This record gives sequence, structure tokens and C-alpha cells, in this order.
Amino acid sequence: MTKKKIAIICGGPSSEHEVSALSGAGVLSGLDKNAYEPILIGITKSSQWVLLPNEYPLAIVKGVMPTIELNPNRVELSKKGFLLNGAKMDIDCVFTVLHGEFGEDGKIQQLLEDSGIAYVGSGVEASADAMDKSIAKAIFEKSGLTIAPGVEVTALNWREMTEGLTFPVFVKPSSGGSSRGTHKVKDANSLEAAIKDALTYDDKALVERAIQGREIECAVLERDGVVQASVVGEIIVNPAFEFYDFEAKYLDSATTVQIPAQISQSDSIKIQNQAKQAFIALGCKGLARCDFFYTEQGEIIINEINTMPGFTGTSVYPKLWAASGLEYTELISVLINSSLKD
Ligand SMILES: Nc1ncnc2c1ncn2[C@@H]1O[C@H](COP(=O)(O)OP(=O)(O)O)[C@@H](O)[C@H]1O
Ligand SMILES: [Mg+2]
Repeated sequence: MTKKKIAIICGGPSSEHEVSALSGAGVLSGLDKNAYEPILIGITKSSQWVLLPNEYPLAIVKGVMPTIELNPNRVELSKKGFLLNGAKMDIDCVFTVLHGEFGEDGKIQQLLEDSGIAYVGSGVEASADAMDKSIAKAIFEKSGLTIAPGVEVTALNWREMTEGLTFPVFVKPSSGGSSRGTHKVKDANSLEAAIKDALTYDDKALVERAIQGREIECAVLERDGVVQASVVGEIIVNPAFEFYDFEAKYLDSATTVQIPAQISQSDSIKIQNQAKQAFIALGCKGLARCDFFYTEQGEIIINEINTMPGFTGTSVYPKLWAASGLEYTELISVLINSSLKD
């Protein structure tokens, strides 16, 4: 049997370039080499596509995150498929481990649709809707889920929109990730700076009531056409960090994930059901990680859904599935298989 050729695409122009490079390394090492042949493709920060050797350094070295650098082996994705320096490449399925802008917002999904090549994960519309938190929140609310109250603001209207606001609030770009541009704002004096910073990542920012609650995550997977939810996990951030910010996420051993979360079985099941509900409401495919707040009163508030969550072997999404009995290599195979069946 010939092995299916799987293009693993990582890097990209978003602020999560480095994180994506780590996820790419994860999929490359986790891929079942008996069944699949990996083809590693990197996208530089300035959006040039290159073929990378499988040995390309994609690890954190002395605290420095990996990046994709330009090389002469230029790749492009055209309507005819992938081309390497103009020559057709043979690829059966694409696993884009690109987070944020371009990778998670529907843009690369559109290119892949146009080329007719199978790819892992959500399509154009679901990706775009999930990426834009103001759109996703409206869809969640309409489907009956509870969201954090808040307003969407722009550079032009933020003063009017935030009049009479009660603090603390969270300010964040509507389309963002890795907590970049996200601020906890305790008083009106700090609001402008926070909004201006959030607006450097997107034209729209969200100003939300600060929810006091635990952060619970649930991994959703489409397996043989059935939407399944993993056990739920709790993100426990070192109290030295005010919230789950960029440093707490990646640069420190500041965060642990408790799997399964120490919450009642009935609330775990509610969260699993709501995660599946959010996945279906947005029309997601393949995979997504649903993130919730869980208050002391037992309230479950959906925060966001990530259609291409961090995907290294030690990222939350694969860990939640490992704890649910599905190991990393098998998880990758399930995702590839369901994309090939579409
Ligand atoms: N309304 C909110 N209330 C409390 N904490 C929040 C709120 N919004 C964001 N946060 C904190 O900021 C983090 C990042 O925000 P999030 O909306 O998840 O954006 P990102 O896509 O960058 O992960 C969350 O994990 C949480 O710690
Ligand atoms: Mg988040």
C-alpha cells in the first residue's frame, strides 16, 4: 500500500507563528510513519511558502522560539494544487497547524477548497466565524449558550460604547489569539491604552465583564462522522500571573492543566454537551477546543472556540484526548481519516 502524503503546514504571518512552528514539529513527530509520509511546509512571517527538510529545527532552544526562515525551495498553492518551484507536488491531505490570522480564519481553507485537496479541520465559514469572537459569541448566544456580557468597539466609537462601564473588564481584540492584546482593566484611566493596544491586532475589540471563574477546556473531535467531547480539563495559572496571558501560556512553567478537572460529574457532562453544541452551532469540522469559564455558583460561560488549537504532543487538546483514551498518533490519524472521507 502506498503511503498517503500528508503536508504539514506551519508558521504563518500571525502573531502565533512560533507557536504554530512548535505544533508543526509535534504533528511531524507524532504522525504514524507506517501509514503516512510527511511533507513539511513552512510559511515565513512575511507569507513566503517553503519546503522544509524534516530535520528543520522547530524546537525551543535556550528559551528562543523557532521561526520559519526563507529558503530557495519555494512552494505555492494554486488551483492545480501544490507546486514546488513550479513543479506539481503529490499531496493527499493537508494538516495546517497554523494558528490565528490566515491559518484559522478561513483564508488558507479557501485556498485549499479552490485546489480541491483534502484538509484537516473546519471549512472557510466556520473557521472565520470562530476566529472572530464577536461573531462567534453571537452564534453561541443564539444557540442557547451563556456568554460573557460585553460590547464590541472600534477606534471611532469606543468612548460612547464604554460610558458608565463597571470595572474590572477584559479588553481583547475580536480576532486574536495566545492572549496577545488582552488586558484586564481595573479602572477608567487604563481603558484607553488597553483598547488602543487591542486594536493593533484587529479593527474591533471586545470589552467584556471580567468573569470570576475557573477556566475549563474541552476538546471536541469528529470521529467517524460523530462529534465527540473529551474529558474536561482545568487550566490552573500560577497566581503570580493575573490571568492566562501569553507568558503564562508559553514562556514559563506557569500553568498546569488538571485533567480531569476536579468538578462534579454532572457539571463535566454539561460542559461536554455545551462544547459539542458550540462546535455544531458554528458548523465546525474535525477538531476544536472549547474554552469555558466555570463560576463558583456553577455557571458555565463559553469564552471561545479554537478551530486549530495548540497541537504539540503536550498541548491541552492532545492531552485531553490522551486522558480520554486516544493517544496523539492515533488522534492525528483520526483527523486525517475524517478529512479524507469528506
Ligand atoms: N471576560 C473575561 N473574564 C475573565 N477572564 C477573561 C475574559 N476574557 C479573557 N479572559 C482571560 O484572558 C485569556 C485570553 O482570552 P481569550 O478570550 O481566551 O483570547 P485568546 O484567543 O487570546 O486565547 C483567557 O484565557 C482568560 O484568562
Ligand atoms: Mg483563549
